[in-house]
Amino acid sequence: MQQPIRIAPSILSADFANLGEEIRAIDRAGADYVHIDVMDGHFVPNITIGAGVTKALRPHSKKIFDVHLMISPVDSFIEDFAKAGADIITVHVEATPHVHRTIQLIKSLGKKAGISLNPSTPVSAVDYLLDDLDMVLVMSVNPGFGGQSFIESQLGKVAELRRRIDDSGRTIDLEIDGGINFETAPRAIAAGADVLVAGTATFTGGPDAYEANIRRLRGVD
Ligand code: DX5
Ligand code: ZN
Repeated sequence: MQQPIRIAPSILSADFANLGEEIRAIDRAGADYVHIDVMDGHFVPNITIGAGVTKALRPHSKKIFDVHLMISPVDSFIEDFAKAGADIITVHVEATPHVHRTIQLIKSLGKKAGISLNPSTPVSAVDYLLDDLDMVLVMSVNPGFGGQSFIESQLGKVAELRRRIDDSGRTIDLEIDGGINFETAPRAIAAGADVLVAGTATFTGGPDAYEANIRRLRGVD
């Protein structure tokens, strides 16, 4: 069943010179999750932040830290992010040769486990995994950068995953990430997504705008 809509601002679009204050601002503005994009310059063509920064940010909010790992090979970094205060750790199916084992590793550390599907990754990637997952993340852009255009074909993937998750009878977040704005958010929700990542759309306008941006993404206004 589709859960209440949660908004996960991606701090990739925040002011990196003021990350602590930015996290406090989105917390106050009503963010549900704090989406932390971790990139290694290898799995994706960009380098962002690591476990050290994640740990430094942890005291600034009690909201759920939704850590999106775009690093490969990923296994040797998972414990660092668990210790840094991640609540949900999501890996890409292509980032580990044994994704089932990686999910067990995340869970063994007491964290919620997610897998992420690139735009070209088929829905069947979740076969044999759904029973162990807490989140499925559909990438609606190719991972690596904020501010890209939404890839329309991913709405069908969200709808198909909605059916599979509902059939499983389990509570699994269905998150969509990339190009989510005031126009694409309602369409992603209609397709079945219940967690919306939004970088550009949250942080545009500066701190005074965050609350209105988040409300509008959620579909409240
Ligand atoms: C892309 C990241 C996204 C990105 C979203 O690789 O996973 O979280 O920051 O940015 P927007 O919302 O600007 O498309
Ligand atoms: Zn992300």
